[in-house]
This record gives sequence, C-alpha cells and structure tokens, in this order.
Amino acid sequence: MLKLTGLHISYGKISAVKGIDLEVAPGEIVTLIGSNGAGKTSILKSISGIIPAVSGSILFEGREIKNMKAYEVTALGIIHVPEGRGIFPNLTAMENLEMGGYLKKNAFVRDKIDEVFQLFPRLKERRKQRAGTFSGGEQQMLAIGRGLVADPRMMLLDEPSLGLAPIIVQNIFNIIRQLNEEKKITILLVEQNANLALRVSRRGYILETGSMVKDGLSSSLMNDDGVRKAYLGG
Ligand SMILES: Nc1ncnc2c1ncn2[C@@H]1O[C@H](COP(=O)(O)OP(=O)(O)OP(=O)(O)O)[C@@H](O)[C@H]1O
Ligand SMILES: [Mg+2]
Repeated sequence: MLKLTGLHISYGKISAVKGIDLEVAPGEIVTLIGSNGAGKTSILKSISGIIPAVSGSILFEGREIKNMKAYEVTALGIIHVPEGRGIFPNLTAMENLEMGGYLKKNAFVRDKIDEVFQLFPRLKERRKQRAGTFSGGEQQMLAIGRGLVADPRMMLLDEPSLGLAPIIVQNIFNIIRQLNEEKKITILLVEQNANLALRVSRRGYILETGSMVKDGLSSSLMNDDGVRKAYLGG
C-alpha cells in the first residue's frame, strides 16, 4: 500500500533521514520505533507532503506521491495525526472535527462525525467545549477523530501515547486496534513506547539517527536482545 525506497530528508545541510526503506501492506499496523531525534516525525511529514524529501521514492498504491502537496495526499486517503495532536485550541471540539472534513461534502461530514462520537462518546459530551481546555487524552481522541472525519484508508499516527497516563495510553492503543480491525484503516504508528507499539502492530522498524537498523515481525523484535536492551528496558 505504502512503499518508501531510499528516502533521504535534510534540513539545510543536516541530513535527518539517510536513505531508508519501509513498506506497509494493506490492513497492517506497522510501527516505527526510535529515540528522540531519530527522524520518525520527519518520515511521516515527508509522506504526508508537509516537508519535501531530498531523494528516494514514496509510492502509495503504486503512485509516486513524493512531490505532492499535503492536500493532495490527504485527498488520496492518507491522514497524518501529528505529534503534539495539532488541534485548534480556541475552537470547540465540534469545530475541530468539522475542520477534518474540509475536503468533503457537509452531509458526509455529519455522518462521519456521528461515527466519531460513537467511537469516542466523551467527545460528544464535550463537543461544545474549547479544545484547548481538554485533557491530554481527550485531545488525542480529538486529533484521531478529526483524522477519521476525512475518511482515511491509511493513518499516520505520531506518538499518540506521548504524555498520557498509562490507563489512557491503553485506551488509545485499544482505539488504534479498533480503527484497524473495524474501520479497516491501515496504520503506520510512530512510537517511543516500544512495548505497547510492538504488541499492537504486526511488523516493526527500528530507526537510529536516520538509518533503519532492524525490521521484522513485531513478535520477533520483542524477543530480539538488542531491541530489548535498547527499547524495552532489558
Ligand atoms: N525544522 C527543522 N529544522 C532543522 N532540523 C530539524 C527540523 N526538524 C527536525 N530536525 C532535526 O531532524 C532530526 C530528526 O527529527 P525528527 O523530529 O524527525 O525526530 P523524531 O524521531 O521524530 O524525534 P522525537 O522522538 O523527539 O519526536 C533531529 O536531529 C532534528 O533536530
Ligand atoms: Mg517526533
């Protein structure tokens, strides 16, 4: 479904991602794990057209999307839920959700928002509340919900568990599984919480300072000595 080949990303003279390969098949949850500054967010941003890639290729369903604009990538069905959630704090939850459907017709957006409310009843209760006053977990639900309104076939989730209490993290990971199983959304999940990310995903990739050092089935990565020491606390 998504295939990155030899992808390079630079910020000026600094090379952040140094020719990585990564593939996501339809229906999969694939996780990308790496420490701070490894280049995870840069990879997601280049897929969604927020930043340009220097070289390499990004194929989505066989089509080169490397030089596409962000709204074109969105229209193809790839939704990026950014690190730090990226919600509009001064808008209500409802208004944030409506923003997610800016490329779609009104009736369609209403139906999708109803679906989001079924998935996150809490957002329905709080739909008139300013998003900036939401708890971290509610903001993450809102960010995912806003992405769902655009009716994605693929979601790029950037550290959805960051800064959340363990019980909320578990909740978010359950939602991720539900999106994949029930809504049939293919997911590329970026996480520093390697433990949970490997448990929810089918396959994983390990990124270190811009290079891919390991990949495989999540079940094998969990049993890999190097991965355990570096990312799973031994
Ligand atoms: N706008 C920018 N200008 C210059 N350098 C940048 C910019 N954005 C990212 N970088 C650098 O690129 C490298 C990769 O950053 P990136 O945000 O992709 O890492 P990450 O794996 O997402 O890290 P984290 O886990 O902290 O979110 C880092 O060294 C970072 O300092
Ligand atoms: Mg990041």
